[in-house]
Amino acid sequence: MLSLHAERLADIALETPEPDGPMETDIECIKPHIELRHVSYRYAQGEPSVIHNLSLMIHAGDSVALVGRSGCGKTTLLKLILGLLTPTEGEILIGGISMRQLGPQACRNLVGAVMQEDQLLAGSLAENIACFDPHFCQERVKEAAQIADIHKTITNMPMGYQTLVTDMGAGLSGGQKQRIFLARALYRKPKILVLDEATSNLDLHSEQHVIKALGEMPMTRVIIAHRRETIAFAKRLVCLDKGVVVEDVRLDEARVTE
Ligand SMILES: Nc1ncnc2c1ncn2[C@@H]1O[C@H](COP(=O)(O)OP(=O)(O)OP(=O)(O)O)[C@@H](O)[C@H]1O
Ligand SMILES: [Mg+2]
Repeated sequence: MLSLHAERLADIALETPEPDGPMETDIECIKPHIELRHVSYRYAQGEPSVIHNLSLMIHAGDSVALVGRSGCGKTTLLKLILGLLTPTEGEILIGGISMRQLGPQACRNLVGAVMQEDQLLAGSLAENIACFDPHFCQERVKEAAQIADIHKTITNMPMGYQTLVTDMGAGLSGGQKQRIFLARALYRKPKILVLDEATSNLDLHSEQHVIKALGEMPMTRVIIAHRRETIAFAKRLVCLDKGVVVEDVRLDEARVTE
C-alpha cells in the first residue's frame, strides 16, 4: 500500500529541477514583442511535425486572434510561446532575447495564460486567483476579478472570496471557472497574455465585457477564439492550417500585411 503512494510522490519529488536560463534578466526592461523564427515542432521523433517552419512577429501591445481548424496546431503554438514546449527547430525570441537564454522562470513571469485544460486547486477563490501567493494583495485580487467579470458573482456567494474550491472546481459553472482562470492570469499583471478559448463558455454579454476590458490593457495579447464577436476585437487575425500560417490580416486597417 505504502509503495504505491511513494511511487506517486516519487514522480514529483525525484523529477530533475528545471534548469534556469544562463542570463540574469530584469524582466521590467523586456519589451513584450514575440518573434518566432522558422519554428518547427513535433511531439515525438518519427511523428510528423505539428508546426512547420513558422515565422511570425507579434509587436508589443498588439492583439492577435489565432484561428484555424481543430487540430491545426493552435494550442501547440501557444505552448511554444509559453515555453511549455521547446521548438524542435528554430527559435522564439521575447523582446529580442531568445527564450533559451531567458530561461523558464523569466518567461513565466512575463506571460499570463488561460489554457484549454486549466484546473482550479484546493483552496479559497482568493488563493486560486492569487496563485497561492502567501502574501497576496486582496485589492489586486479584486481588481483582477473585476476585469474578468467575476467579482460580483464571488461577492454574492455566502463566503465571498473565502469560498473553498474543492475537487478541481466542482460547484462552479464552466463560465465561472473560466472567469476565475482569467482573473488568475491577470493577477500578476503580465506583459503578455495568452488565451486558449478562455471565454468560450461565457455568454456573449459577459464575453464582450471581458474582451473590451482586456483590449484597454497595455499588454500583448494572443487569443485563440472561434466566435466572430471575439475575433472582431483583435487588431490582427492569424489563420493556421496544418501548422503553417495561411492568412495574416490586420483587422483595424483591413488589409493584408503578409
Ligand atoms: N501531447 C501530444 N502528443 C502528441 N500529439 C499531440 C499532443 N498534443 C497535440 N497533439 C497533436 O498535435 C496536433 C495539433 O494539436 P493542437 O492541440 O495544437 O490543436 P488545436 O489547433 O489547438 O486544436 P483545437 O482547436 O481542437 O484545440 C493534433 O494533431 C494533435 O493530435
Ligand atoms: Mg487547442
